[in-house]
Parts: sequence; C-alpha cells; structure tokens
Amino acid sequence: MQEREGSKTYKEYLKVLKECSPYNFCEYSNNSIDRRITKIMRDNRLNMDELIYKTRKDQSFVEYVVESITVNTTELFRDPLIWEYLLKEVVPKLKGHPQINIWHAGCSTGQEVYSFMILLDQLNMLEKSKIYATDISQKALNCAAKGEYVYNFNYEKYLTNFEEVFKNHTTNVNFNDYFKVDKAKDLISVKAKLKEKTNFIKHDLVKEEMPFYNKFDIIFCRNVLIYFNESLQSRIVQRFHDNLFNKGVMVLGTHEGLNGFFRTKFARNNYVYSKTDTFHFKY
Ligand SMILES: C[S@@+](CC[C@H](N)C(=O)[O-])C[C@H]1O[C@@H](n2cnc3c(N)ncnc32)[C@H](O)[C@@H]1O
Repeated sequence: MQEREGSKTYKEYLKVLKECSPYNFCEYSNNSIDRRITKIMRDNRLNMDELIYKTRKDQSFVEYVVESITVNTTELFRDPLIWEYLLKEVVPKLKGHPQINIWHAGCSTGQEVYSFMILLDQLNMLEKSKIYATDISQKALNCAAKGEYVYNFNYEKYLTNFEEVFKNHTTNVNFNDYFKVDKAKDLISVKAKLKEKTNFIKHDLVKEEMPFYNKFDIIFCRNVLIYFNESLQSRIVQRFHDNLFNKGVMVLGTHEGLNGFFRTKFARNNYVYSKTDTFHFKY
C-alpha cells in the first residue's frame, strides 16, 4: 500500500484530524483505516495536502470523513446462536431485577438494539428495561432511530436469523409481530412498540466521558473493538468493567476477545463475559 500521498502520511493526517476536530482515530488499527483514507482521497480527487486543507477548513467534510472511516456493517440477530444463548441462558437470570440497564456501544443502524429488545419482550422484560444505544456516527444513529431498513438484500437474512433464534422458543413468535414488511416500498419498518423505547445518543468510545451515569446489567460492544489497537481496547474494556454491576455481562463479537489481564476479571461463556469481581487498573 502506498502510504505517502502529497507530502504527508496517513498517520500524520490522523494527527491533523485530531487537532482540528473532536475525533481521534490515531489508535485505530492501521489496515482498515489506510484503505478508507485512500478511498476518501480517490472519491474526492484529493492528494494528501488537499485532504488536510479541506479537513482544516470544512467541518461538514470532517463529518463525511468520520462516516467514511467507520464501518457500519450490521444485521438483525447477527450470529443467531449467540442470540439463542442470550435468550435461554443469560437474560432469564435478570428476571428478578426491578430494572435492567442495557448499553449498546457502537450500535450502528440499530439492528442489534432491536434484536435484544425482541428477546426482552419475549421474556416479558422489556417494560422494565432502560436501553441506551450509542455510536460515533450520527448518520447511523439517525437510521437507527428511524428503524427502517431496505427490504431487498436484508429480508431473507433477517427472517432466517429470526427463525433460527426462536426455533426452540416456548411461545409462538412471528417476524411480523415486530416489523412491518412492505415489499413494494422496499422497506422493513420496526414497529412503534420497540421504537418508542429507544434512546440513541452520539458518543465516541475513544473519549473518557460517559454520556450517562448509570451502571449496567449488560453492555453490548460487538464488532467494534476489532477496529482499535490493543491499548485502546484495554482502556475501553476497563471502562465497561467499571460501569457494569457485579455479575453484569459484556457481549463481544465473534472475532473479538480479551487479553490475558482481563481474562481473569471476566468469566467467558460463548461470547458473553460476566464480571467476576471489582478491580481498578491504572495505565
Ligand atoms: C461493524 S459496526 C458494529 C455494529 C453492531 N454492534 C454489530 O455488531 O452488528 C461498528 C460500529 O462501531 C462504530 N464506531 C466506530 N468507532 C467508534 C467510536 N470511537 N465510538 C463509538 N462508536 C464507534 C461505527 O460507527 C459502527 O457503527
């Protein structure tokens, strides 16, 4: 990969982006970010010096860069076996709690959030749940709040995943209970019952500040840490640990895991990590 364009490298570009915007991508892993910056330059016919100039001058271009750097791929009940495990083994253990606090960190366009709300509803626990969902991408959050997804390409997959998760479930549940499907308009729309409980908030996981003061029973952070270097991953997992109740759980993606130190602080089962005790680690 050609790293040098104009007179500056990608790493230097990320430093400029950090200086002149609220965003710091310096600790993202190199491969994916290099590819994305190359694409931004190609699509906008800019060399590196021009890219830097535009980034310094134009805040709306900065937002476009952020949207272009972040990867928003997601789906309803992504990795259905994990959702089945959550349905049968994890969520029922929270049944006695008076309130259940959930944080989806890096929620993208919301499919993960709606998936979990459906599980909660099936177990009659949705009412007492408080759900926060955050992402760095305002565009993804707007789509999440709207709760509308393209029918084409998605419907078959969403339906297959849905049926896989609920194939052994005790009550009869139908995709149409939660979604309005309009093939003619090419739309799958989330029904109001779910949408009205959501709370989508813009938040950057790289920053230390939290957008809320709650402690959580469950934190989802699936397919997000994979884009960060090890040191940033550790700081974020530390924050999740601090913000979980004892025995609270963190759910990661299938290509993610914990480094040695954190392995002693969470008990792993499937891709679900339960907090085992309290500790604080200074960096
Ligand atoms: C691949 S998607 C994962 C979506 C969902 N969790 C899933 O597994 O289906 C990664 C999401 O992380 C978000 N993201 C990337 N960097 C972030 C940051 N610093 N803070 C918050 N969200 C971030 C992206 O905008 C994107 O929506």
